[in-house]
Amino acid sequence: MKKALVTGCAGFIGSHLTQRLLNDGVTVIGIDGFIDNYDVAAKLRNLAEIGKHPAFTFHSTTLQTGRWDIWLENVDVVFHLAALPGVRNSWGKSFADYVSHNILATQELLEACLQRPKPPVIVVSSSSSVYGTMQGTVTNENAPLHPVSPYGVTKEAMEQICSVYVKAYGLPVSMLRYFTVYGPRQRPDMAFHRFFRQMMKGEQVIIYGDGQQSRDFTYVTDAVEANLLAAQHAVPGDIFNVGGDREIKLIDVLSIMGTLLNQTPRITYQNGPAGDSLRTCADIQFAQQRLGYKPKVTLEEGLRHQLAEIRSQSKG
Ligand code: UGA
Repeated sequence: MKKALVTGCAGFIGSHLTQRLLNDGVTVIGIDGFIDNYDVAAKLRNLAEIGKHPAFTFHSTTLQTGRWDIWLENVDVVFHLAALPGVRNSWGKSFADYVSHNILATQELLEACLQRPKPPVIVVSSSSSVYGTMQGTVTNENAPLHPVSPYGVTKEAMEQICSVYVKAYGLPVSMLRYFTVYGPRQRPDMAFHRFFRQMMKGEQVIIYGDGQQSRDFTYVTDAVEANLLAAQHAVPGDIFNVGGDREIKLIDVLSIMGTLLNQTPRITYQNGPAGDSLRTCADIQFAQQRLGYKPKVTLEEGLRHQLAEIRSQSKG
């Protein structure tokens, strides 16, 4: 891979991926529309270091402006991370925005890649939220999809539109279903980011539900690694679960955080917004076999890194 296009390069996972590609000597075209789902200053911070790199070109625009000829010139691999994320805000009127950013924009990207003399390899970011609440021991990619949020519905539709382009045209698209990614630069609406900040300020931690919901939390550099492996080894149409080191209940994560901060979390339990999955647990065998994917960062280690970043920001 000599040249890559990263959509959503100022976002949480996109900025880590861009950094890694630049470190590996890849030329990167980055696009980010700074859609206002959270503080633009945080996204600008994500870009601070990569923005100075001589092999990085940045286009501050949404995909819907469609300057594909410029963006895709000589690009070997497209990493498509641009999206409107977050399960809890996808109800009501905002659903139209989710449809636009997650489905329509993806279809435009597929169409543009198809027009290239040699279409690039495309790695698309999807989500464990396509499954909804998981049943049984672990869930592999063939499990039925029962999203419980409008966001999950848009991610499922995004996968379907990608699969249609693979079947009809052989477009080399693969998809990654991330399981609740965390680590430095995590989005401010996500649980670990909020919990660390609440505890550092001596505030109550707000848990939605009873804290017994579980996740297969995945450290951000493992999600980045999965992207690079998929670009090299995936077969068109492949879909991979990208999970972390283990499934754990939210309440148990909070107690690890308490240990790291040397305090006992004070918790307020609230009815959360609808759309929350009660359980996610990834079977990553397929990603292991096809890609050689294996999560490297334990939850304890990853939480330490995330805390260190939040601490350094609150000083700065
Ligand atoms: C996350 C991302 O936000 C989605 O964009 C992504 O697609 C999804 O992971 C996925 O992997 O499929 P979520 O699992 O809800 O969604 O991640 P968090 O926001 O970190 O929430 C984890 C759990 O903590 C949820 O049960 C949530 O209800 C709970 N939570 C969150 C709280 O109890 N309190 C809070 O203040 C925030």
